[in-house]
Amino acid sequence: MKKSDIKIQAGDAGYLNRNCWLVNNLNYSPYKRCLFCKFRFRNCLFLHYQLISIFLIVFFLALFLLIEGTVSKLVIITIFTLVIVYGYFFNKSTGKIIEANFAQAKAAEALEKLTENLEEKVEEQTKAIVEKNTRLERLLKVKSEFLDIASHQLRTPVSVICGILDMFKSGSMDSLPKEKQMKFIENAFLKGRKLNAVIDDILDASDLDEKQLDLKNSLAELDFSALIKELVSYCTMEAENKKISIKANIEDNIKIKGDKKYIEQAVCNLLDNAIKYTPAEKNIEIKLKKEGNKAILTIKDEGIGIPKNEQPSLFRKFSRATNAKEMHTDGSGLGLFIVKNIINAHPEGKIWFESEEDKGTTFYIQLLIA
Ligand SMILES: Nc1ncnc2c1ncn2[C@@H]1O[C@H](COP(=O)(O)OP(=O)(O)OP(=O)(O)O)[C@@H](O)[C@H]1O
Ligand SMILES: [Mg+2]
Repeated sequence: MKKSDIKIQAGDAGYLNRNCWLVNNLNYSPYKRCLFCKFRFRNCLFLHYQLISIFLIVFFLALFLLIEGTVSKLVIITIFTLVIVYGYFFNKSTGKIIEANFAQAKAAEALEKLTENLEEKVEEQTKAIVEKNTRLERLLKVKSEFLDIASHQLRTPVSVICGILDMFKSGSMDSLPKEKQMKFIENAFLKGRKLNAVIDDILDASDLDEKQLDLKNSLAELDFSALIKELVSYCTMEAENKKISIKANIEDNIKIKGDKKYIEQAVCNLLDNAIKYTPAEKNIEIKLKKEGNKAILTIKDEGIGIPKNEQPSLFRKFSRATNAKEMHTDGSGLGLFIVKNIINAHPEGKIWFESEEDKGTTFYIQLLIA
């Protein structure tokens, strides 16, 4: 701050009351009390005193001249002595009054400022407390949702696996035919894989909760067409087991800027959902095409669809539509949350869907061409 920017205020040393004609013209505060005065010149008490004094001096001198015919030296000395002595004490007492008034005004100003600051501080702190509270409430909700998931999604496969192992341990498996035994082993293996996938999802989602996915250093040119063909071929068998037909229409040679591991995870999640929420004898259609400098992947199914009122919250963590819960009790509701984070972490990446209950759902992914 420049020295000239600092405003000298009433009460400061060197203060000049620019309202006062006298100060303004002579650049000078004649009395000590002028240091505290903000009045205009015409409101100056000392000026009033001086004018009245002059008037009284003239008045008394004229009176004496009129009555006595002459003005004695004693009278002149008396009048002037009175004026000077009275002026001295008048100046002193008005100075004290003005100083006291000034101090009072200053204190009121400081109090007002303090109240203002206090209000601001209280408001700030209330806001911080409300924010913290909302965060805590959210955390508590997430925690209870997590416990729900943990108790169901994690416990169910563990108890199946333990049950099967217990049957082996107790020897009750020995009486079963080899084929039946193999079925149990396969079931235990599938539950183990499911458990692994749920744990991965929970860990991924909690990572994404703490910080956004940063793929800046892992983006590379990726043959999207080849990757989609490969992933479709993997899930075709699973679909066929469910008597769902998969049609694929994939444009060749579409290269994108992406992270292979994450893109694979996102697309697998969407394909997995399409198969999971589509009943037998229905179709799934997968399309990949180029639109300008973007690649658009479409996964369309004729499944259970998503109720309109539940659509807006679907990308949120742990969000599962009621019809999906009825169809499959297992499911963490973390898949779409992870997919959205992955796609959004890609340059110009976008994901959206259209859905009608009992008719089907279409998910769209947009990614930048390399
Ligand atoms: N193709 C789809 N058809 C109908 N509903 C879908 C489809 N894809 C997603 N949904 C809805 O979105 C919800 C969230 O999907 P998400 O993949 O996140 O979880 P999930 O499939 O329930 O469980 P998981 O985390 O084990 O995959 C589903 O529960 C379902 O309600
Ligand atoms: Mg899913």
